[in-house]
Amino acid sequence: MKLKNRLVTVGTMIALTSFVNAADPAEVLFDAKCAACHSKTRPADMSNVVAPALMGVMRHIKMTYPNKEVAVKFMVDYILEPTKEKAICMPKKIERFGLMPSQKGNVTEAELKTITSWMFDNFPPEGFRGMGHGNRQGKGQGRGQGK
Ligand code: HEC
Repeated sequence: MKLKNRLVTVGTMIALTSFVNAADPAEVLFDAKCAACHSKTRPADMSNVVAPALMGVMRHIKMTYPNKEVAVKFMVDYILEPTKEKAICMPKKIERFGLMPSQKGNVTEAELKTITSWMFDNFPPEGFRGMGHGNRQGKGQGRGQGK
């Protein structure tokens, strides 16, 4: 029931963003198909988190696959057919959240190429050093000390 509420919220958000401004279509897709599980921001309340946040996912993806083309290819394949052997995320995450359910049927391969390429270009945000560290997510940038 909780998830249903969250999906409704996500749906409303998408409706709003597509009205108010022409958001990046890739982000709209992410919001519709992935954001119910993967938060785009650091979750304030970890107790109802069901999957690693997007910034953490992308940090690990890039550590393993720094090349964008290779990373996108890996992600498209993984998202349609996740297995423990393929997973680059820490084993601890799989223990905690379980393996990601295949998104086959929920998202097409073409949509996934758009989404994962956007993910690669925008995450993790600059200055992010891992979930265990204090993060500044842009807020601390350009602190304007001195002048
Ligand atoms: C039902 C919840 C759920 C949805 C929906 C979901 N994911 Fe995931 N995802 C997970 C969980 C849980 C993990 C961590 C375990 C794992 O890696 O399999 C994960 C892991 C990942 C990873 C890391 C894979 C690895 O190598 O470990 C990527 C990349 C990813 N998700 C992308 C996406 C994208 C893109 C979408 C939308 C098309 C999406 N996910 C939708 C739950 C979800």
